[in-house]
Amino acid sequence: MNGSVLPLDYAETADRDEFRRAVIAGLSARPRAIPAKFLYDARGSALFDEICELPEYYLTRTETMILSQRAGEIGRRAGPGCALVEFGSGSSVKSRLLIEALPDLALYAPIDISRAHLDATAARLRRDYPWLQVLPVCADFMGPVPPIVHDGRLLGFFPGSTIGNLEPPEATAFLRHARRLLGNDGALVLGVDLRKDPQRLHDAYNDKAGVTAAFTLNLLRRMNRELHATFDLSGFAHEASYNPVDGRIEIYFRSLRDQSVTVAGQRFDFAAGERVHTEYSYKYDTSGIAALAKSGGFRIAETWTDPDRLFAVTYLEAA
Ligand code: TRP
Repeated sequence: MNGSVLPLDYAETADRDEFRRAVIAGLSARPRAIPAKFLYDARGSALFDEICELPEYYLTRTETMILSQRAGEIGRRAGPGCALVEFGSGSSVKSRLLIEALPDLALYAPIDISRAHLDATAARLRRDYPWLQVLPVCADFMGPVPPIVHDGRLLGFFPGSTIGNLEPPEATAFLRHARRLLGNDGALVLGVDLRKDPQRLHDAYNDKAGVTAAFTLNLLRRMNRELHATFDLSGFAHEASYNPVDGRIEIYFRSLRDQSVTVAGQRFDFAAGERVHTEYSYKYDTSGIAALAKSGGFRIAETWTDPDRLFAVTYLEAA
């Protein structure tokens, strides 16, 4: 194996057919919903990177701080000669903290659904870490992934509270899937956003600059471009609110008036105020994280948080 092969295209890449089927099914269902993974085309992935820099969006900043403080400890726990496997790697900014701290790291396998992002990221990593074997895998991290062949421990990395974007049963399914992939000796560094003041949560998903809104509405743009849809972007708005009962941010796009839209030759009517769900972002408390880890076949070896307890990074070991 060498660093120039791949990226590996595996099964479930979000191609246009899959996108069309998911959108038609999602807009035909009640309540209407479109799976969040379709938010991440090239422009969506770039907007997402911008979200991470927003003043209101404390998650990335806080997690990065915890990781940079704890990278040495993580490296000692994981031990020498690991392979690092990242689920939903985006632009792999946080992974660099681990790449630089893991002793004798043998391999880095970023898994991401956005091909453009993955290619660009892999090229940058190979330039910056010429000693590191980089094995990009273009796939939905929830679906099948080729076995990572490595003689040594597999360390998974699932940062950004992406686990919070999964409904709890899916989060459990993800952990089981990761557990299987990482093996009996495997471990997982998991980043989870914590429950906190609802206003703070609300603001993080309703930034003043409107980047999160642009990210949500990019889905409409993508439908226009890839599915010959006729969404008028000024007729819809981003909506994100905190549901304290279920402990989750709920994200939608909302129709601002009665209107109809054609998507892939099919007509859909939207009433004023009607919403289409795109994503949840679940927030956990520490007991919730422990229960989740257990349900996925892991146990918590360590939990690190920031002084304001905004965010938690946990080190999970296969149970
Ligand atoms: N997982 C992060 C979160 O829930 C990032 C994220 C996913 C996000 N989808 C989003 C952020 C939509 C803002 C809007 O916060």
